Amino acid sequence: MSFNNDLDSLYRRVIMDHYKNPRNRGALSGDSVTIDMNNPTCGDRIRLQLKVEDGKITDVKFEGEGCSISMASASMMTQAIKGKTIEEAMHLSHIFSDMMQGKDYDHDIDLDDIEALQGVCKFPARIKCATLAWKAMEKGL
Ligand code: FES
Repeated sequence: MSFNNDLDSLYRRVIMDHYKNPRNRGALSGDSVTIDMNNPTCGDRIRLQLKVEDGKITDVKFEGEGCSISMASASMMTQAIKGKTIEEAMHLSHIFSDMMQGKDYDHDIDLDDIEALQGVCKFPARIKCATLAWKAMEKGL
């Protein structure tokens, strides 16, 4: 098996793990910002809730229905932004957007599981799936 095949199957496993065992799934109680967003091409939807205190995202949860890419991306995004400042979260979102456009992105930041989504840029129809949660996050912040 080639290196690329190994990497592809690792990425697929990471995506399926987030899909089957989503991080930060559920609803927040108390004060939070709620954003509802859907993917108009398929009707899949996400509800994202963010708790922001002193410029920092102290908690985040999501619920929704969608394909494995959209739900895995939501799970990865919430994992990545929890505890980050608004600026850091927006910076991550810009890096993710560059990645989805197939552009060279900032490799100085540890993207952790998010790297597993980099192959999505080769499938234009799936980019909207991967960016759904990120758009909701940007809207909320
Ligand atoms: Fe609907 Fe992916 S097919 S979000």
